[in-house]
Amino acid sequence: PIAEHPRITVVGVGYLGATHAVCMAALGFDVLGVDVDEDKVAELAAGRVPFFEPGLQEKLSEMLAEGRLSFTTDFDRAADFGDVHFVCVGTPQSDDSDAADLTFVESAFEALATRIRSKALLVGKSTVPIGTADRLTRMVAARSPIGADLELAWNPEFLREGFAVEDTLHPDRLVFGVASEWAERQLRAVYAPILEEDTPLVVADLPTAELVKVAANSFLATKISYINAMAEVCEATGADVDLLAEALSFDDRIGGRFLKPGLGFGGGCLPKDIRAFAHRADELGVGDAVAFLHEVDEINTRRRLRLVDLVRELAGGDLEGTRVAALGAAFKPNSDDVRDAPALDVARMLSLEGAEVVVYDPEANENAHRTYPDLDYVDSLEEAVTDAEVVALLTEWDEFGEADPFALGELVNTRRIVDGRHALDADKYRDAGWEYRALGQPA
Ligand code: UGA
Repeated sequence: PIAEHPRITVVGVGYLGATHAVCMAALGFDVLGVDVDEDKVAELAAGRVPFFEPGLQEKLSEMLAEGRLSFTTDFDRAADFGDVHFVCVGTPQSDDSDAADLTFVESAFEALATRIRSKALLVGKSTVPIGTADRLTRMVAARSPIGADLELAWNPEFLREGFAVEDTLHPDRLVFGVASEWAERQLRAVYAPILEEDTPLVVADLPTAELVKVAANSFLATKISYINAMAEVCEATGADVDLLAEALSFDDRIGGRFLKPGLGFGGGCLPKDIRAFAHRADELGVGDAVAFLHEVDEINTRRRLRLVDLVRELAGGDLEGTRVAALGAAFKPNSDDVRDAPALDVARMLSLEGAEVVVYDPEANENAHRTYPDLDYVDSLEEAVTDAEVVALLTEWDEFGEADPFALGELVNTRRIVDGRHALDADKYRDAGWEYRALGQPA
């Protein structure tokens, strides 16, 4: 039999897990979040989300107040608590290769497998190399005291940072990778409130479920690099990549989403996922099939270099001693995440060439400072642009798009701006006396 109203544990309460735990409680389940990180558990238990995610803080407080959600570092308690255990720990890039580091995933599954003593379902949500779930299934079977009563399923997560709550409660689709009908029925019980909203569901085997996730992220990365490759061609021909993207977007088969040219993709997912995928495909002997992902990665890196070129050009050919205002550090707006952030990478490269870089990000200054302590960080847009010789917009926060080019013009030393995210009204800036440059656009 399945648990009709399962008790849920979520192992790993970082970005994905904390969101998942809060949202499962919001769906009406009793939820226990588990992590080895005592600070993280203490913060969440006290009602504080330890990262920036719109809407999550309020929901966490609500769920704690309703008594449906708690947090612990005690894996024995977690093993006893749940009918369904979601594993949401990180799979970062390894220190010495492109492969995903599976240490956290393996220890989470092992910690549960050795402790759980009554029928339960283990559900992997982390992004993993294809074949991991099959391997974990064998490990769980070998280590579990209850044998076949402990089953494993894979349920990839497609949420975006900045929209995490919305994407979890109203996903585009659900994917269940299962090895039995029982596992499918148990997952259907968990997601019943979401399935009731006619959310599409794909039920698959374990390797397909793992592959859906990396294939989706690879496609998105490829789409972004495609338009950025076109930007390179535009730069060589005097064509305008924004008009090009607009014209392409009206073809429904192409579509306009993820076709926005600019500084390219970053974050804790897309870059490491395409690298880990290419690495895994090599191991499987099908490296040629996804060799283009290396190109996708390189196109993405070249955008950062090109942006540095544009700032240097505007500065008159030499960055030494040039004061540059770097607007944005996060890998995208509405996030404080600076992992593999194009913005911060550009700021770092400008500084390496001798520019005096002043960074302002509405939310990510603290994380950025931890990553690159040598850059100068300030607390407002105005401070950042004061006396700047070149302004570089690197993350498209609304605050930057809404700023008045005349007012900013009064503060800078020289009205020169590079719009790395195509987020500004070029005509307005030019009317206000700015020299405006963007990637993939004629000067
Ligand atoms: C991405 C996927 O979109 C999610 O579906 C997936 O669940 C998640 O990774 C994950 O694997 O966990 P996320 O990293 O939050 O989500 O951010 P995105 O909104 O996908 O943006 C990724 C990067 O692409 C950002 O740096 C963004 O600035 C850039 N981007 C996006 C562009 O350069 N151009 C575009 O047109 C769109």
